[in-house]
Amino acid sequence: MDKTEQHLARGERVAIRPFTRADVDDWVAWPQHQDPLFRDYNSPHLSPRERDLWYADRAARPDHEMYALLDAGSDRLIGRLFLRQIDRVKGSAVLGVDLRSDMLNAGLGTDALRTFTRYYFTVLQQNSLKLDVAGYNYRAQRVYEKLGWVYVGEHWNTYPSVFMPNIFSDPQLESVRKYFRSGPGSVSVLHYDMELTRERWEEMNDIAQK
Ligand SMILES: CC(C)(COP(=O)(O)OP(=O)(O)OC[C@H]1O[C@@H](n2cnc3c(N)ncnc32)[C@H](O)[C@@H]1OP(=O)(O)O)[C@@H](O)C(=O)NCCC(=O)NCCS
Repeated sequence: MDKTEQHLARGERVAIRPFTRADVDDWVAWPQHQDPLFRDYNSPHLSPRERDLWYADRAARPDHEMYALLDAGSDRLIGRLFLRQIDRVKGSAVLGVDLRSDMLNAGLGTDALRTFTRYYFTVLQQNSLKLDVAGYNYRAQRVYEKLGWVYVGEHWNTYPSVFMPNIFSDPQLESVRKYFRSGPGSVSVLHYDMELTRERWEEMNDIAQK
């Protein structure tokens, strides 16, 4: 089958198709993030058997969907997009997205999310796409704001201290320290809750067409 036949949606530079077991092999070989704030996005070291299990576990979740973000020219995997907490009655889900660390800041995330939201609200006919974003993740916030997401709340996520061992000592991290709180053996990170409703998406699209 022609690879483009598997595409669910296509933007200017990014195409989207379902995420497959073979994509896990690509993903675990992605270059690692050097920025300590994004270490959490680094792919884990997984044996082939562990990759099978990783994929099977997620594919079996009834409220979870995985998509591959591709360079539309080469069909190469450049990112992943997840929906979790899918509520088919309300037509809502929570979005997660990450690109290869060597593909950031080149407009691909904006194109991918613009393309996915069009697919989500028109083809899938859903009503609301939520997400949460770390307070220090200014780049992601900028992309979400550009595409119409609005801030609806905030909460603290708690991780084991090893997640960010230097956050309270590294002078280079001083400007983002306000988003972190230490606890016994743990560190909490301020996250903003954002939502893009179908109404807001339609309003943004009308504006873009004028
Ligand atoms: C978040 C992510 C998907 C965005 O995709 P991307 O291709 O890097 O983003 P784009 O290049 O399309 O757009 C980035 C925007 O943020 C802006 N930006 C970049 N760094 C910034 C910063 N430190 N502060 C403010 N804005 C910033 C850019 O100027 C650009 O805005 P513009 O188009 O108005 O100039 C991608 O960076 C990524 O995968 N990051 C790692 C994982 C992650 O953070 N996932 C999101 C979790 S909520």
